[in-house]
Amino acid sequence: MRVLVTGGAGYIGSHTVVELLASGHELVILDNLANSSPLAVEAVRRITKRDVPLVRGDVTDGDCLDTVFGGADFDAVIHFAALKAVGESVADPLRYFRNNVAGTATLLDRMAAHDVKAIVFSSSAAVYGDPASVPIAEDEPTRPASPYARSKAMAEDLLRDLHAADSAWRISVLRYFNAVGAHPSGHLGEDPMGTPPNLLPYVAQVAMGQRDCVPVFGDDYATADGTGVRDYLHVCDLARGHLLALEYLAAGPRFALHNLGTGRGSSVYDVIHAFERACGRALPTRIVGRRPGDVVVSIADPRRANADLDWQPVHDLDDCCRDMWRWCQAHPNGFGG
Ligand code: NAD
Ligand code: WQD
Repeated sequence: MRVLVTGGAGYIGSHTVVELLASGHELVILDNLANSSPLAVEAVRRITKRDVPLVRGDVTDGDCLDTVFGGADFDAVIHFAALKAVGESVADPLRYFRNNVAGTATLLDRMAAHDVKAIVFSSSAAVYGDPASVPIAEDEPTRPASPYARSKAMAEDLLRDLHAADSAWRISVLRYFNAVGAHPSGHLGEDPMGTPPNLLPYVAQVAMGQRDCVPVFGDDYATADGTGVRDYLHVCDLARGHLLALEYLAAGPRFALHNLGTGRGSSVYDVIHAFERACGRALPTRIVGRRPGDVVVSIADPRRANADLDWQPVHDLDDCCRDMWRWCQAHPNGFGG
């Protein structure tokens, strides 16, 4: 297939591009590089030994999209491009709705105009908010608790309404749980800008000696060790899910919704201990207060993706930490060196 990958220079996008190129698909990446580096695309070329064009452009820019869609016949779009910092979305909700919701609407509008009616959309477990119970299945009610999460829920609604209006659309919504890890080559990984808001990138920076200790956001939750529990998923398993979603869409028009998660939960201390095994040393921690807005436990019920997409994650948390540590050692300053 010829596929346009928006946000393909980003963390999950770049790993997915590797997976798709390895399977013989023809790709174009569209990214405004707001949260990524062109060196990620260089790394993709190095890993795959294939060229992939990077168009520097914005999904909110209809003219730019017209140029891209006018330049080649695309079979499908994988739409990763979004802003994803929950705290930032609380401070500047309009930026999130403009980029993530209006950006998706503009993209769909231009896709329709160019008769490209197949899309895989990056949604998030964040749309579930604080779940009534775990594991979380797709038919659980959504209760997004931040502007970021609401921007994803709104984009899902757009896609659902579009399919209701025109059943020729092929739509796959993937709700990712916590993406972690790096490409096993050590050439590609997550390169957060500034202080990492997420646990594993922070732990990695402590392991590299760039930060003193890991702040543990609360140890008094009703969990086995008192810390928050999440479903951490290797980014390469997640990437493969997109390949399978594209194949699923090739079977016919549909609106499909799938969780991508392992079905296993790990606490903050489970993560820190797994990283200690990977880097071979003890990592200092400090218990600080709970982070406002955090859910206690978030674990996927991945059975629908297992059944429909034949998708099974093959990596565990130790694999995630090992691959992440390899990437960090090779690139202590991310793509900057
Ligand atoms: P990322 O920030 O690394 O990648 C997003 C990419 O999109 C970046 O390269 C950025 O420059 C680009 N981008 C942003 N706005 C754009 C725009 N208007 N036009 C063009 N490009 C734009 O983030 P990621 O972790 O790779 O996440 C990819 C997608 O998956 C996002 O939609 C995110 O919301 C979603 N998601 C991520 C996680 C996670 O754990 N990382 C979990 C659930 C959902
Ligand atoms: C994991 C656990 C924290 C940092 C976020 C987004 C979500 C999704 C994935 C995109 C929690 C604890 C964290 C730290 C800590 N992204 N923690 N010390 O909150 O599950 O999800 O990323 O869609 O939308 O909200 O991930 O990695 O921030 O936190 O103790 O320095 O680690 O409290 O229990 P989260 P996270």
